[in-house]
Amino acid sequence: MKVLIATEKPFAQKAVDGIRRIVEEAGYELALLEKYTDKAQLLEAVADVDALIIRSDKVTAEVIAAAPQLKIVVRAGAGYDNVDLAAATARGIVVMNTPGQNSNAVAELAIALMIYISRNRFTPGTGHEIMGKTLGIHAYGNVGKLVGRKGKAMGMEVIAYDPFIKEDAVFEADGVKRVGSVEELYAKADFLSLHIPATEQTRGSIGYELLMSMPKGATLVNTARKEVIDEAGLMRALEEREDLKYVTDIAAGIQAELDEKFGKRVFATPKKMGAETAEANLNAGLAAARQIVDFFKTGNTRFQVNK
Ligand code: 3PG
Repeated sequence: MKVLIATEKPFAQKAVDGIRRIVEEAGYELALLEKYTDKAQLLEAVADVDALIIRSDKVTAEVIAAAPQLKIVVRAGAGYDNVDLAAATARGIVVMNTPGQNSNAVAELAIALMIYISRNRFTPGTGHEIMGKTLGIHAYGNVGKLVGRKGKAMGMEVIAYDPFIKEDAVFEADGVKRVGSVEELYAKADFLSLHIPATEQTRGSIGYELLMSMPKGATLVNTARKEVIDEAGLMRALEEREDLKYVTDIAAGIQAELDEKFGKRVFATPKKMGAETAEANLNAGLAAARQIVDFFKTGNTRFQVNK
């Protein structure tokens, strides 16, 4: 059995060492393709592998076709919009993610972005505190929950909306108030932290109307995916409302234009770094390795996302 780690954005060394230990103890071979710059390198590397561990690396139909022995792909992380699920399913390949394993890192970055923008991106001048402000959490999954709890610890009023969770008790357990609609959430949030995945339903779903409904001085915080934003709507809202701010961990397609037009009101990290901590790498990487070994040894498909 051959397991390949293919990471354009590599794991911390400690995570790679840990994955190697798990894979080799199971009697399998580990191969490593890091910092690749060309798709051709990935196509070549997958030619003889049974299992693949990736991060945001794109596993397209072409990659799947180039991997005749591939049986399982584990996305070490949460979002699996980078994997062509239909192509994998058609070949009977199991696709998994490692939910929750890198969530704390992303949640910490979301809070950091709120503080950074509130303090004028750490440049001189009077800023604002986040304490006492209303934090809206859009989607209450692993990351959303942690952002909510951290927001509470910072003295924020936390409200949340999740289309799939209707029980108040889930939110109340964290001292968070559930609101009844997306519209209500945006209309009340001084900071809106996005935690929705990029799917057919969510693509381009956050745009002009929602942004315009936000309170004076509000900030949209995006540590989720750039695809969920309607960029033309974002541009228009920022143009019409000088008080609105946008901070993101995933640069917009029009980021250069946003930066030029709106200066300190917008910010994008240079490269997605939400999950870029040694701890998150280790948690997600080891979980991926364990899930692969468990799948081969016992058939466990608990974290399969293409069932
Ligand atoms: C995720 O979906 O887990 C995050 O976006 C992290 O992505 P990364 O592993 O590419 O940093």
